Amino acid sequence: MNKKYMAEPYRIKMVESIRQTTKEERITLLKNAGYNPFSLRSDDVYIDLLTDSGTGAMSQEQWGAMMIGDEAYAGSRSFYRLESVVKNITGYKYFMPVHQGRGAEQVFLPQLVTHKGMYYLSNIHFDTTRAHVELAGARALDCVTECCYDLKNYHPFKGNFDLELLEKTILEKGKENICGIIMTITNNSAGGQPVSMENMREVHKIAKKYGIMNIIDGARYAENSFFIKEREKGYQDKDIIDIARETYSYADALLMSAKKDGLVNMGGIIAIRDDKCLFDKCRTRAVAYEGFPTYGGLNGRDMDALAVGLMEALDENYLRHRIDQVRYLGDRLMEAGIPIQYPVGGHAVFVDCKALAPQIPYDQFPSLAVTNALYIEAGVRAVEIGSLLLGRDPDTNKNIEAKLELMRLTIPRRVYTYNHLDVVADAMIHVFEHRHELKGYAFDYESPILRHFTSTFKPI
Ligand code: F0G
Repeated sequence: MNKKYMAEPYRIKMVESIRQTTKEERITLLKNAGYNPFSLRSDDVYIDLLTDSGTGAMSQEQWGAMMIGDEAYAGSRSFYRLESVVKNITGYKYFMPVHQGRGAEQVFLPQLVTHKGMYYLSNIHFDTTRAHVELAGARALDCVTECCYDLKNYHPFKGNFDLELLEKTILEKGKENICGIIMTITNNSAGGQPVSMENMREVHKIAKKYGIMNIIDGARYAENSFFIKEREKGYQDKDIIDIARETYSYADALLMSAKKDGLVNMGGIIAIRDDKCLFDKCRTRAVAYEGFPTYGGLNGRDMDALAVGLMEALDENYLRHRIDQVRYLGDRLMEAGIPIQYPVGGHAVFVDCKALAPQIPYDQFPSLAVTNALYIEAGVRAVEIGSLLLGRDPDTNKNIEAKLELMRLTIPRRVYTYNHLDVVADAMIHVFEHRHELKGYAFDYESPILRHFTSTFKPI
């Protein structure tokens, strides 16, 4: 690769063959999957860009660390090794492993819901976060900066909170009715867009002013730290780990899916700055839902792999290559005139399907149509992030129209090469050239919760 995009800072020691299928086969496979890419077998997918969650490749150091995993039920050495890494990065006093991000959500989020009519406020709640907020009897409100909806124009930090809107919402709803503020970094649903340090600092000030707990959803905090180093004044000479530490200094707790920037296939983290009472409540709930608090649903060896992965993900060369891969795919699509969220974020390229297929109404799911066309074209599996994912209003049961109808091409960590990304780009360009032929979908079966995972469809 040329200098514009950094070449792989690793060499490949183990390979996994991937199967290719024909277009005719894929038409049948997709039909049998109820036109829902989540129901495809991975064997029927050539390049899997469904998610970057738990799909990364571990390093030899991580595999090595797994050999010294301590499988004691309580107080294992693996737990203490992981705890020391998490405390080193966050500076928080209390730590508990959980099986994945939503494990952290189901244990932690209900603790702050103390009465009826409460709200969590986030830049944008990720879909499982929103689901757990609602399951806990609260409502999830998003206060993201408007510029994240302007897909075409450059802004360095499209993941930011709209500070005015945040404060206005707190005043409107009453500070006693706000469970907490959730800072999602990077802001997945806005296109993996970063949040600036300045914005985190200001959100923290607002949280303190009203006595509200500030929580970081840190699934991709390392990628966020890299963007701060690259784009925010005053951070160019800082180490990534110091940027991460400053990030955590502006919050009271961390909920993390470790399947992203933990560089493991399974795992999650709850860390709390100093609220012992809250930590004790989480521990009690975790025993019922996740496991004893020193394993939280993880093997000892999983915790050791995570302890190593957390540090690897803060390596600047690793991060530069990672972000360059995403940028490379984004640049290829933009050069062909395909509308995407610009600039590209940390973990994926988000294609603007409202602009690409305006003939399909939101409740016929334009992004699903593009996603399925891409699969048929080349066996590339992407994912819908739009009105299908957003679901129905819990009060009125009406389909909510997403502000953004996106298809996410999510790049797993340390898995694919630039050549794979060329296959994706070429296929996507073909779909783009035939965009006028795209048609929408209707439900065949609609699942009542997190419907995008298990619903089935018929083409219209
Ligand atoms: N928060 C964010 C920002 C996420 O992106 C995810 C998962 C979670 C929480 C939940 O974590 O999956 O470990 O339970 N995102 C994945 C994705 C599923 O594809 O974006 P989990």
